[in-house]
Amino acid sequence: MKVLGFESSCDETGVALVEVPATGTPRLLAQALHSQIAMHQAYGGVVPELASRDHIRRVLPLTREVMAQAGTGLKDVDVIAYTQGPGLAGALLVSAGVAVSLAAALGKPTLGIHHLEGHLLSPFLSADPPEFPFVALLVSGGHTQLMRVDEVGSYEILGETIDDAAGEAFDKSAKLLGLPYPGGPHLAHMAEQGDEKAFALPRPLLHSGKPDFSFAGLKTAVLTQVKKLGDAPTEQQRADLAASTQAAIVEVLVKKSMLALKETGLKRLVVAGGVGANAELRRQLNAACAKRQVRVHYPELSLCTDNGAMIAMAAAMRLQRGMATLQQDGSFAVRPRWALGSA
Ligand code: KG4
Ligand code: ZN
Repeated sequence: MKVLGFESSCDETGVALVEVPATGTPRLLAQALHSQIAMHQAYGGVVPELASRDHIRRVLPLTREVMAQAGTGLKDVDVIAYTQGPGLAGALLVSAGVAVSLAAALGKPTLGIHHLEGHLLSPFLSADPPEFPFVALLVSGGHTQLMRVDEVGSYEILGETIDDAAGEAFDKSAKLLGLPYPGGPHLAHMAEQGDEKAFALPRPLLHSGKPDFSFAGLKTAVLTQVKKLGDAPTEQQRADLAASTQAAIVEVLVKKSMLALKETGLKRLVVAGGVGANAELRRQLNAACAKRQVRVHYPELSLCTDNGAMIAMAAAMRLQRGMATLQQDGSFAVRPRWALGSA
């Protein structure tokens, strides 16, 4: 069976084709991605209307590219999956509309997928896929959650952020440092030249004893330091502040992940979402997990941020388990706000 997956919830248009065996791990046959980062950079953030229009421009050429790469045709596709939410309403509607139209033309069913489930299951596309159960650290631009995952569809939230997400903390701090959108990777790059001990920044809720997070205070502390540095900070000062900010975010994420592992007694950690690409986070999680005999799994670096492969993969894993609610009546509804685990 072949699943075609579409992702357009924010600023990446992703399309991918996955082969689904009766048993065993589904296999990525081809994927194509277009990032809108360059387009939104001039505005310092995602402009929803521009995002939707660009998804419309990209989605069919990307689909043709995927079919050509896989050496197959649309008639060989069995199920068409798309990100149903959460995300920008207009952007989500592009994938949903294309998926449902293609499905109607081909006489095939569609399957709406939760974007975060896609992130969560993306490590199953790696060379070293995890096994259930595991603790998942989901760190994206909009979400920071620790979850107990027993199976596909079984997601128990152990803790989450009460304000900003980790990705937001990276992005907002980077903006204060004058770095382009999205700031996470730029801040991480700049931090390589800095001293993480140069600035004493807060680690909110570090000692709360619960796997919860708060990052809004960190952003305020970074703003205070930026103001103190004045109009012409040196490159070294900016790098030091970047390194100190990254260190604060990473320390909290690592400590809370260890707490969740301890609480659940599980010996496996899966990291997913854009911030999962952060090298310092990976380095420190690897060290902390090695100390506790915990196996840690990450998605391939290129699959940390949004992509179509993770959506096709989540659909494939649901289909294998008989957990897919397929639709074939031409109707669709996107869910811009949708908590993982809720109906
Ligand atoms: O998962 P994702 O692509 O989008 C959402 O679903 O929200 O995550 C994007 C987030 C952005 O905040 C971006 O700055 C952050 O992931 N990010 C990073 C790195 N690469 C991406 N943050 C820190 N270090 C990185 N290397
Ligand atoms: Zn995402």
